[in-house]
Amino acid sequence: MSCLVYFIIVSLMAVTLASASTIVPRGPQTNATCTSDYDWTDNESGLSPCLLASYLLGSCLTGDYGVWALPADSHYNPPNVGTMSSTPCSCSWSVYNLLSACTVCQGNVNSVLSWAYYKAECPDDDLSTTTFYPYDKGYELPEPASIPYWATQNHDSAELA
Ligand SMILES: *[C@@H]1O[C@H](CO)[C@@H](O)[C@H](O)[C@H]1NC(C)=O
Ligand SMILES: *[C@@H]1O[C@H](CO)[C@@H](O)[C@H](O)[C@H]1NC(C)=O
Repeated sequence: MSCLVYFIIVSLMAVTLASASTIVPRGPQTNATCTSDYDWTDNESGLSPCLLASYLLGSCLTGDYGVWALPADSHYNPPNVGTMSSTPCSCSWSVYNLLSACTVCQGNVNSVLSWAYYKAECPDDDLSTTTFYPYDKGYELPEPASIPYWATQNHDSAELA
């Protein structure tokens, strides 16, 4: 539980000065390595938040997305800022939560973007106020991904002003 609280606090920190890195089509795959301190972020069968994010990003597209290891002090670019396009998946709470966890678990604790900053270039059509993954738009989670509970949280209501 303390880990979850820690993650939520960290994920609410609005740090945008770190340099950005790219998420590119191909995959789903990742070569990002989470330190063992963050094993709790893995899904039940051990998928890291980085690989899970890759699965989820790919589930909205014909191409898949690789989530590559971050250099120190960098973060993943938000949708429509770098190479990652805006989709109902990339703009979902779950992908935001997973990419944040993926950033933190690589040791880049101070590089996590706020939800407000992350979603800024997402059109309303790609955002949801009701669900963490666009099931309501007909998308389906690919096997073997399933989303851990902590990654289903909506940050709209918890946003630090
Ligand atoms: C991860 O893979 C990408 C794409 O192949 C590559 O550019 C990058 O150097 C790799 N990073 C590490 C740490 O292996
Ligand atoms: C985790 O990933 C595995 C594949 O390694 C999958 O079979 C399983 O359903 C997933 N479980 C959860 C809770 O995410």
